[in-house]
Amino acid sequence: METRIFKIDPENIDISLVEEAADILSKGGLLAFPTETVYGLGADGLNEDASGKIYSAKGRPSDNPLIIHIGKREDLNVLAKEISKNAEILMDNFWPGPLTIVFKKKEEVPYSTTGGLDTVGVRMPSHPIALELIKRSGVCVAAPSANTSGRPSPTKAKHVIEDMMGKIDGIVDGGDVGIGIESTIVDMSGDVPVILRPGAITKEMMEELIGEVQVDRVVDAKSKEELGKGDYVPKAPGMKYRHYAPKAQLIMYEGEIESVIKKIKSNIINDKKAGKVSGIICTDETMENYKATEGVIISIGTRDDESTIAHNLYGVLREFDDTDVSVIYCETFYYNGLGHAIMNRLIKAAGYKVEKV
Ligand code: TXA
Ligand code: MG
Repeated sequence: METRIFKIDPENIDISLVEEAADILSKGGLLAFPTETVYGLGADGLNEDASGKIYSAKGRPSDNPLIIHIGKREDLNVLAKEISKNAEILMDNFWPGPLTIVFKKKEEVPYSTTGGLDTVGVRMPSHPIALELIKRSGVCVAAPSANTSGRPSPTKAKHVIEDMMGKIDGIVDGGDVGIGIESTIVDMSGDVPVILRPGAITKEMMEELIGEVQVDRVVDAKSKEELGKGDYVPKAPGMKYRHYAPKAQLIMYEGEIESVIKKIKSNIINDKKAGKVSGIICTDETMENYKATEGVIISIGTRDDESTIAHNLYGVLREFDDTDVSVIYCETFYYNGLGHAIMNRLIKAAGYKVEKV
């Protein structure tokens, strides 16, 4: 299949190009486009054939539901029933933006889009190109992250090109995304709001507006075993699959930063003696410490501003895929605020390999 690239400047949007790209969605095709979180791979979410194609392009298991993206609030009425007062408050405050809300679904939403669930995840993205595209397509756009299943989510058009060229109808290149990690998912279909995936809209931000918000236990699971315990079924089916994984084994070290640095340095030296070059994910603050070692050193951002870490996270994991390191050692971050989402993604990318030092 030939994949057409639409280069669109988010600060000076060429509407005629957006219309051509939107036409792909209206006609049941597959189109990747930037959102403020990560690039999405979109198709008409109410058209079973169209959304079915997403699963084959990504190699995604069919029980993993898709998030539906809308361009205006009215479109929610087609998708969701029983919209609670608290859900309204969250939408008023965080839409358009990086928050996906899970509602009980209406019949019109096909089970092939929701992975067989009676609920549907919906979000209104704030990226100007995404919003314009969705509005002009006239459809509700199902869109998972535009990566091959299991790989790090795409935050640059070149990541989408790596994974999707030749497999989909079009790619909108709107430059790098802003946030860099996927939306927060909050399940509002039950009595108590439950976070199924942490993101830039934090638990604290939501609790300030609507009171208690719980966190699904899968989010903070510390091992694969914990995920499969008893008869527990993860509420966001996607959470049970290995995610965001670089090709090399990622190992995280938790503890006082001085001890973490010491441990990583000694690993690198030992690996070198064994004839192996390994990778290091550090921060601007700690980079200097590793300079004397011969590892592949990449800073993920500054500890002074965690949004830089979120922004660079997947790009750094993909950068290591272009090297031949077989192990990457990574520092850890605080779990609060945006750190919750950062650690959630890194721990999953590491396949739960977190060692205390
Ligand atoms: O930021 C984002 O949310 C990006 C951009 C493109 O919008 N999309 C994204 O989609 O991350 P995806 O498919 O990569 O991740 C969606 C996650 C999966 O873990 C899936 O299981 C969960 O959302 N999910 C979707 N619908 C759900 C539902 N009805 N109930 C529970 N979990 C759901
Ligand atoms: Mg994804």
